[in-house]
Amino acid sequence: MLVSNRGPVSFIESGDGYELKRGAGGLAGAMDPVARKLGDEAVWIAAATSETDRRALAAGQVERLPEELGYRVRLLDIDPDTYSQYYDVVSNRMLWFANHCLWDELEIGSFGQTELDAWESSYLPVNEAFASAVLDESDADDLILFQDYHLAAAPRLVREQRPRQTIFHFTHSSFCADGYDRLPEPVRTGVIEGLLGADLLGFHVASWVNAFIDCCEKIGFSVDRERGCVQHAGATTWARAYPIPIDATALKELAGSETVRTWGDRFLGEATGPAVVRADRTEPSKNIVRGFEAFGALLDRRKDLRHVTFFACLYASRQSMAEYRQYLEKINDAIARVNDRHPDAIRMFLKDDYERTLGALSIYDVLLVNPIMDGMNLVSKEGVAVNRRAGALVLTRGAGSFQELGDFAVQVDNALDIEETARAMERALETPEKERRRALEGARSIVESTKPEDWIYSQIDDLEAIAEGNAPKTPI
Ligand code: F6P
Repeated sequence: MLVSNRGPVSFIESGDGYELKRGAGGLAGAMDPVARKLGDEAVWIAAATSETDRRALAAGQVERLPEELGYRVRLLDIDPDTYSQYYDVVSNRMLWFANHCLWDELEIGSFGQTELDAWESSYLPVNEAFASAVLDESDADDLILFQDYHLAAAPRLVREQRPRQTIFHFTHSSFCADGYDRLPEPVRTGVIEGLLGADLLGFHVASWVNAFIDCCEKIGFSVDRERGCVQHAGATTWARAYPIPIDATALKELAGSETVRTWGDRFLGEATGPAVVRADRTEPSKNIVRGFEAFGALLDRRKDLRHVTFFACLYASRQSMAEYRQYLEKINDAIARVNDRHPDAIRMFLKDDYERTLGALSIYDVLLVNPIMDGMNLVSKEGVAVNRRAGALVLTRGAGSFQELGDFAVQVDNALDIEETARAMERALETPEKERRRALEGARSIVESTKPEDWIYSQIDDLEAIAEGNAPKTPI
């Protein structure tokens, strides 16, 4: 049973019916192939995340999903005010920013009663609603796979009702022990205690596992770093890294489609020289503004590179939150500043259009992926899978994918350093084609070496080992 806030698809109204749209963000895109592989063995529980989803749910549209997706989906209808407190205030303003250590970046000082109320009267009740849907849909011997920080309290809530249930929780973002220092105490301990209701916790890379263990230790739990586990109230919770793969075969098939190829050709036709590409949600942790500033700085000092075109395929994210609305404004301002000096150098496409984005990824000469911190960053993997032009990857150390792709990328150590980022783009643009192709092929072989089913089955194998009283098979 997969359980996450955002489900695999959202609904959009069209004429007098509804169309389906791929769920936004890394989680939905990565988990859908997993659920398809499990087929009718899987049930995915998620929230209706918009008014349209709620209307589609009321109109019985969810019943068509098994046929369209190959697995069953249950959507929870949560009252919009409660949802907004749970999603905007607690999940995204407190937990997402904590997991990415964004307090200084966003100049957020501290939290008060409003946030505590949101935790008590919305986050916990929504987690209870998810836990009760899980109890309702599952038997005691089912595997429950909770996904992400929206549902950090739910593992413990299920555990209290079903002490022997096998429970897993996967965090799709980065994790930052210091980030938790800024949270009010009931939230900080509530999240960690909630997660410790699971038998096993998954993260994308070892650094996030270690940061989680650090955070548990700071709060006062007994941790065993050698075995990679936390002991609490007579129970053990294990923590392991499972780097999420992409479904490269399916993606390449889509990239070969007429629509994606046409988009690729259009980008090539528009480019006045080599193409730099980025593809992101408009998300502060993605560090989009510094990426544009670095590009501007590069063009300022290298006249001969002024024919390079930067295509930014972005889509507006979490616009119900002031921080995200302001970040989108900052993105627009940064583009305007660069384009004032270098007309039309940055072209932004602001819409969630996956095929267009794949078109851009297929033709980049340089792919800029410069997050401050990022759980994995699937764009870097998708880019190397579909690129058809010996493109170079510029990658910051804070991306989880750096662990797998760093050796094949032009590396940026400090994502906050605009000059370092500019130099990395410069190096990427000047790397001889033969070398770029070798790096691309190296990265691609890594990306193609694992499949969504390997990812999910390694978690399931570990959960089975734990249920038999052993340590997970995956080493720390
Ligand atoms: O992949 C990380 C993640 O935060 C998911 O949990 C989330 O669904 C996605 O990014 C997109 O964010 P949102 O659901 O807030 O639009």
